[in-house]
Amino acid sequence: MKVLLINGSPRKEGNTRKMLDRVGETLEAEGIGTELLQVGGTAIRGCLACYRCIELKDRQCSTKNDNFNAIFRKMLEADGIVLGSPTYFADITPEMKALIDRSGYVSRVNGNLFHHKTGAAVISLRRGGGIHAFDSINHLFQICGMFTVGSTYWNLGFGGREGNEVENDREGMENMRDLGQSMAFLLKKLHAGT
Ligand SMILES: Cc1cc2nc3c(=O)[nH]c(=O)nc-3n(C[C@H](O)[C@H](O)[C@H](O)COP(=O)(O)O)c2cc1C
Repeated sequence: MKVLLINGSPRKEGNTRKMLDRVGETLEAEGIGTELLQVGGTAIRGCLACYRCIELKDRQCSTKNDNFNAIFRKMLEADGIVLGSPTYFADITPEMKALIDRSGYVSRVNGNLFHHKTGAAVISLRRGGGIHAFDSINHLFQICGMFTVGSTYWNLGFGGREGNEVENDREGMENMRDLGQSMAFLLKKLHAGT
């Protein structure tokens, strides 16, 4: 079993990364393999609405001059997907939005390739708007027939721009551990006997 964690923040070592790392460490301790990918700060572009994916149904996006298809292949291989983003004006980063739009479309037009994977949204924020960003990611999971995983609060962590302030948010970081444990629990149930 494997879980892919994707960082939508351009700050590669920032708050979102710390939260994803805590989820990943917890999954690893539960015997589940993880891989972290960076999408924030990359040149991934938005959906061009060419609809070639509907015509070709070849499990890839026709825009091939960025890193989308490589990330998408890893999403298909994974049993669980954790998407992390900082809050930007009460929503996710443009890079995370591009990934959601394109992966959602390509997976759906090829026979719902994300069906029954597990998914979790992880959001960092300084003060407000995090729930809206959280919802933006969960919309992908819900329309794709994925099983979403929560924690003992919504999967949020508070931190500003100095270093990795989220590490001081003890409740937020504890929730990331809880989230990792719940995702491991669900994956083991889903894949028991396979
Ligand atoms: C362009 C921009 C917009 C932001 N908008 C918000 C916002 O609406 N609400 C909020 O609480 N924080 C906002 N922030 C702060 C970040 O979401 C917050 O510091 C987050 O923890 C950064 O995560 P990172 O270190 O992984 O990049 C914004 C930051 C930037 C750069």
